[in-house]
Amino acid sequence: MLWSTLLALPALAAAAPTESWLESVSKRQGSTTMLRFGCAQVVIDRLDPLVNPGLLPSPHTHQIVGGNGFNASMTTGDVSTTATCTTCAFSKDFSNYWTANLYFKARNGSYKRVKQLGAANQFSDNFSTQIGGGVLVYYVSAQPGKITAFKPGFRMLVGDPNKRTADGGNKMQNCYRCYTGPNFGGDTAAPCAGSIDTPGLPKDVCKGGIRSNILFPTCWDGVNLDSPDHKSHVAYPSTGAANFLSLGGSCPSTHPVRIPQLMYEVVWDTTPFNNKAEWPADGSQPFYFSYGDNTGFGQHADYVFGWQGNELQKGMDASGCMGAKCKDMSNQSIDNAKKCSVSVKVHEERDNWIDKLPGVEM
Ligand SMILES: *[C@@H]1O[C@H](CO)[C@@H](O)[C@H](O)[C@H]1NC(C)=O
Ligand SMILES: *[C@@H]1O[C@H](CO)[C@@H](O)[C@H](O)[C@H]1NC(C)=O
Ligand SMILES: *[C@@H]1O[C@H](CO)[C@@H](O)[C@H](O)[C@H]1NC(C)=O
Ligand SMILES: *[C@@H]1O[C@H](CO)[C@@H](O)[C@H](O)[C@H]1NC(C)=O
Repeated sequence: MLWSTLLALPALAAAAPTESWLESVSKRQGSTTMLRFGCAQVVIDRLDPLVNPGLLPSPHTHQIVGGNGFNASMTTGDVSTTATCTTCAFSKDFSNYWTANLYFKARNGSYKRVKQLGAANQFSDNFSTQIGGGVLVYYVSAQPGKITAFKPGFRMLVGDPNKRTADGGNKMQNCYRCYTGPNFGGDTAAPCAGSIDTPGLPKDVCKGGIRSNILFPTCWDGVNLDSPDHKSHVAYPSTGAANFLSLGGSCPSTHPVRIPQLMYEVVWDTTPFNNKAEWPADGSQPFYFSYGDNTGFGQHADYVFGWQGNELQKGMDASGCMGAKCKDMSNQSIDNAKKCSVSVKVHEERDNWIDKLPGVEM
């Protein structure tokens, strides 16, 4: 059954409050696999090997998760052969996943980095709630039809840090959820699909923090592992939105190969900054991404594929896997995952108040 059909079912939209949208989907979705697993932070650094290879420091700060093969100049090649450990639940996943950091700008103009929480617990695994500081990663394979896993050396970028306006239409590849209470309050509907998520940063206080979801394209040209803009070798389906609703959508003839739906989920713990008396006096949005954006429309994410052998293909070919475990795919404990790290290369203040965002002139 296709996600488009499923999400259209009134029964799913009206799922009992105790049942999450994921649980509803996993019960009804016999042939779709959704790997949903956390990766603890591997490093926070001002590096960007995709957009600014070799540059130390790069223009803005990122938070990186995944394998310890991450470095400033990993421009080509297979990171699964250079990494020796990973912060992700699946122990053969040496990929790197990274996004911008978020900062709070106080009324006096100083900035402080916003820490990250784990993610909502949907499948009783420790790779959601216990990944504080990390990223929750999804790989979804929507049957029927073949989903082709990424190839060694594959990389891509989604979003544009220079963007300050929303996409038109229903193209929600980047969205935010304002958690209305503690413990991920309000985590009830599929990401970027319904009316509760917004394409820009929420404008008011979010009592439980702010979640960011970023969805990558699901169609590939079948040839290029990368492209000069790191985007044109992949494409969104030619019909439907850029979100889970379009998983059954058709790929354009230029990009005919269906690849897994990759999505990142990051939860920012904005709760220490919920006192509006500390927000800028002019009423402007106090949360800024590390690249100097307080609209949220410039949110972007980077991916370097690094699964060993055919491990990801195994997952995509499996039926009905949901969460951080799947059949005989190799996994590890969260304690083990957290032992993996990369040393910081650009030494800058990360935790205390700062006068300006590192590298950003505003
Ligand atoms: C960075 O990673 C690449 C492979 O991804 C490797 O070839 C290179 O030696 C690494 N550089 C450093 C300085 O570790
Ligand atoms: C700016 O404001 C924050 C929070 O109100 C405070 O903690 C910080 O010390 C202030 N910084 C300066 C330079 O006054
Ligand atoms: C998950 O964490 C809990 C609490 O720390 C622990 O008791 C349990 O053994 C962990 N489960 C796994 C599979 O690591
Ligand atoms: C690995 O996955 C299997 C099931 O596929 C599960 O029984 C086991 O607890 C998992 N190991 C860890 C460390 O989470």
